[in-house]
Amino acid sequence: MPSAINANGATLRIEPLPKDAGKKTNFGVVIHDLDLSNIGGMTLVQNQQSPLADQTEADTDVDALKKAIWENKVVIVKGQKDLPPIKQWELVTRFDPDAPKVHSHGSLKTFNKQGGILSASRDVIGMPGAENVRLIGKGYQGADHYGIKDKTVKKPLSHDWHVTELPAEEFESGHTRFQRWHLDAPLYERDPAWFTTLRCIKRPTSPKVTVHWDDGSGQTLETEPGLTAFLSNVQTYDLMTPDEKAMADHSWVEYAPHPYQWMGNCRGNPNGLGVASQGYEKPLEELGEWNPKFVKRYPMVWVNPVTGEKAFMVHGICVRKLFLRSSEGEEPKVIDNVEEIRSWLKRIQERILRPEYIMLPEVEEGDIVMWANWQCFHTAIDYPDSFGPRTMHQANVSASSSPVGPVPITTCG
Ligand SMILES: [Fe+2]
Repeated sequence: MPSAINANGATLRIEPLPKDAGKKTNFGVVIHDLDLSNIGGMTLVQNQQSPLADQTEADTDVDALKKAIWENKVVIVKGQKDLPPIKQWELVTRFDPDAPKVHSHGSLKTFNKQGGILSASRDVIGMPGAENVRLIGKGYQGADHYGIKDKTVKKPLSHDWHVTELPAEEFESGHTRFQRWHLDAPLYERDPAWFTTLRCIKRPTSPKVTVHWDDGSGQTLETEPGLTAFLSNVQTYDLMTPDEKAMADHSWVEYAPHPYQWMGNCRGNPNGLGVASQGYEKPLEELGEWNPKFVKRYPMVWVNPVTGEKAFMVHGICVRKLFLRSSEGEEPKVIDNVEEIRSWLKRIQERILRPEYIMLPEVEEGDIVMWANWQCFHTAIDYPDSFGPRTMHQANVSASSSPVGPVPITTCG
């Protein structure tokens, strides 16, 4: 159970996210009465059982929040309507003070040049004076949005990159899809952020849309428009068999150089998980300059540094090689055929892709959602433009450390 945080004697309420009947999600909390603009101005302490109980350093409050994110995976802090973008950025850097002070996808210039599918298909705008806080959304952003004048986001994250088409009239009637299940990660050069923060400035709340898996399973999920969906890859791990767990614990993956350029012409599966194998991956020699030392090899299983939980964290759309083994001494079997890689991952990852394991927290305007990016997948869900504009401020920072697996892996050679 989540613990209460006390701020100078005042109790902050941490409550589990409300769950519909039948839900099997075991993560997510809501925090009330916390002013993130002023978080350094007060001392927070966890309850008496916490190892943080006696800390008095200036960032004890940030540490307590950080711990809450690692423990609960998804945290919604209510009522941050007046949080200036620069304060969101400051908070993100205080979560990981040793991290390089740049967004995990690099500067906007780097992102727009090297972001491949992440940047080519949508508008991402840096907030004036806080470039690492990114405005993402759709539609008209207002006459003056923190200095951004009369901006209309014409290229939002959209539903139309899936391999099977969603006819416009069906989409307009509220039939939508998960856009792309992912963690926020460059998977080249820089390490993925521990956490991502996403503040909701504006979104429509009605009418509802229905997410369709459109993969033959017939599964659907109804939701308000403009929300982000989450699943816990700790739960993905929990759903694996003992043999699969042994293999995942000892195996690793290698991501492509400039992975989002490499797979930039691929199309997503209609349920948002993984891409179709149609031979559209670019040959490495067409990726421009890349440095082998920046290519990322990560364990398949990432251990939560606070709770010790194991999460199956493989971003399948960017993987170029699997190294499979079930014990430390074993020579790994290398799989470098993307079709084989994807079908191996799909068998494991689709198990969690069921309505009962998906959390769709109802983030209201002014709320900020923060999640343990090393433990979850998330996805946007598109909705018809006619429902109204969406404005979100997103920020994270490339982590100061690399994910650690249950056993050491070979990261070079
Ligand atoms: Fe994301």
